[in-house]
Amino acid sequence: MKGILLAGGSGTRLHPLTLATSKQLLPVYDKPMVYYPLSTLMLAGIRDIMVISTPQDLPQFERLLGDGSQFGVQFTYRAQPTPDGIPQAFLIAGDWLGDSPCALALGDNLIFADQLNSTLTQAAKRTHGATVFAYQVRDPERYGVVAFDNLGRALEIVEKPTAPTSNWAVTGLYFYDSRVLEFSSKLQPSPRGELEITDLNRIYLQEGSLNVERLGRGCAWLDAGLPESLLDASSFVHTIQARQGLLVGSPAETAFRMGYISAEELKNHALKMSKTELGRILLNIAKSDEEIPRPLA
Ligand code: DAU
Repeated sequence: MKGILLAGGSGTRLHPLTLATSKQLLPVYDKPMVYYPLSTLMLAGIRDIMVISTPQDLPQFERLLGDGSQFGVQFTYRAQPTPDGIPQAFLIAGDWLGDSPCALALGDNLIFADQLNSTLTQAAKRTHGATVFAYQVRDPERYGVVAFDNLGRALEIVEKPTAPTSNWAVTGLYFYDSRVLEFSSKLQPSPRGELEITDLNRIYLQEGSLNVERLGRGCAWLDAGLPESLLDASSFVHTIQARQGLLVGSPAETAFRMGYISAEELKNHALKMSKTELGRILLNIAKSDEEIPRPLA
């Protein structure tokens, strides 16, 4: 399975923070925002990843992430000339994608959950249909919203409804089968002029092949698209890391745990950041785990 990391858009809800830089490069505590969804894709076992951003911001992503070898993955970069909608990513990636199944992660979404590795690898293994993740929120009208029948089956999916029929928001992490390019080509712009990811998901829902995984109480899903959610995300990461000494959203740690890089490679990576707490934690992980990578719980 291939993966797309979508990190474009105009970031207008974060102005002036995003006047001179990309939203997805802003810090979420001690890491650039894009590290978090990148770690999620890697945790799903995905190593062939296309990064899509605006023509002006793409060089900064290349500078930050390089060719991917530091994380044992491979990055391809492509520009989205104008932000015409999330599923446009599949059209932009079309020739690279071919008929491969594909996961899409929005560059401003952060998921933290127990057993995430097995949840994600299961989603990546499904060869038919699509998988999305739903999370209970207080303000569903800001998101794509999915409603369920009393047997827990998804009934309908609506983008930013004015009168939401449930509190379950669809998160910015999506897994699609090999028909995703074909289905995306059929989409028409919505009244706000964008191709909508919710319309793509509805195609799968209508043919009965949309799996909606509900993320429960023990999970955190944050999107860092507003000043207060950016602060919340930073505080959350700081709290977990300070309290537990565990890292959240570190592609280097994920690469090591998944067996994409060796302890020696992790150590060399960490030494480049030895003046930081992040570097020190990575160094400890490399030392304590020696050469035996463990999958993340
Ligand atoms: O965060 C989850 C939500 O993301 C879903 O619940 C919604 O169904 C989905 O439409 C989306 O809603 P947003 O209002 O958050 O979408 P937004 O336009 O802010 O775009 C989300 C991210 O994708 C953002 O980081 C910018 C990036 N993006 C967006 C568009 C429309 C692009 O890179 N290119 C685009 O053309």
